[in-house]
Order: sequence, then structure tokens, then C-alpha cells
Amino acid sequence: MNSGFPYRIRIVNWRNEEPNLRSIRSAVFINEQNVPEAMEWDSMDRICTHILVQDFEGNGIGTARLLPDGHVGRMAVLKVWRRKGIGSAMLQKILQEMRALGMKKATLHAQLTAVEFYEKFGFQKCGKEFMEAGIPHIIMVLELS
Ligand SMILES: CC(C)(COP(=O)(O)OP(=O)(O)OC[C@H]1O[C@@H](n2cnc3c(N)ncnc32)[C@H](O)[C@@H]1OP(=O)(O)O)[C@@H](O)C(=O)NCCC(=O)NCCS
Repeated sequence: MNSGFPYRIRIVNWRNEEPNLRSIRSAVFINEQNVPEAMEWDSMDRICTHILVQDFEGNGIGTARLLPDGHVGRMAVLKVWRRKGIGSAMLQKILQEMRALGMKKATLHAQLTAVEFYEKFGFQKCGKEFMEAGIPHIIMVLELS
């Protein structure tokens, strides 16, 4: 979904796009949501499939990642770019990629404030709420047909 705003969405890897991916996640998770640096960066980034959204000048504006086990995470859109369909475009791209890879189930740890966003794609809440990085979360799952 591209709601008239010029942006470019791509699947990328950490090796090639680390600075862009880091700058978006630093702005959203570390600066805005106060997630500790030590929790934000892990060894999984190197083996994940990453989504990178950039504006026309190449500035990073959104990212997300897919772990090899079907876990979707680190979904982040810079504040000024939210509610323009970019998060939806990223999630659609990930789900399309998962289906192409023959993956059967997507799981994620949803911040409670983002539950409605994921429900729009058919994700269902699973289990009890828990705290992660000081933020309330709940597991959500989507069976991929
Ligand atoms: C969650 C996030 C990625 C959504 O990205 P986005 O680009 O704003 O999403 P979209 O514009 O595609 O939203 C599509 C629809 O989802 C719903 N939605 C999006 N964010 C929502 C929110 N925070 N709460 C409730 N509904 C939301 C809305 O219905 C929206 O449609 P609308 O704009 O017509 O109302 C973005 O808000 C974000 O980066 N948040 C900060 C980081 C974060 O919390 N990440 C989630 C970690 S689990």
C-alpha cells in the first residue's frame, strides 16, 4: 500500500544497510521508547531478513525484521511518517516473503498500543500480557495459508 507518499520499500540485509537500519531503530526504540541499547541490538540482526523504507532522498523512514523461525519484530516507522500506510506496507511485504518461503506461521511480540494495527492483518492475541524492555507486550500469531 503506497498512499500517495513517495517512498521506496525493499528487502535488505544487515551487512549492506546497517547504518540506515540502526538510525531508524535508534530514533524509534532507543530515543522515543527508551529501550535500553543492550536490548535493542542483538546477534540476530545478522541472520534476519530486513525491510527498509526510504524517502526519495534515500533517508531511512521505516524498518522491520523477520527471523528465520517466523518471528516478526523491530517494526518501526519514524514518528512523522506514521499513519500513512508505511507500517502496513512493511508488514504486507514481510508476509508476502514468508508465504514465498513456504513459512506457515507468523508470530510477534506486540506492544499493546500496536495490537489493533496487527489485528487488521488477521493476527490474533495469544496468552497473557508481559513486560519486555519496560513496555507491555502480548504474543500475536497469524496462520499463513
Ligand atoms: C506500529 C507502527 C509500525 C505502525 O506504522 P504506521 O505506518 O503508522 O501504520 P499504518 O499507517 O500502516 O497504519 C495502518 C492502520 O493501523 C492502525 N494503527 C496504526 N498504528 C496504530 C496504533 N498505534 N494504534 C492503533 N491503531 C493503529 C490504524 O487503524 C491505521 O489506519 P488509519 O491510519 O487509517 O487509522 C508505528 O506506529 C510505529 O513505528 N510505532 C512505534 C514503534 C512500535 O510501537 N512498533 C511496534 C512494536 S510491536
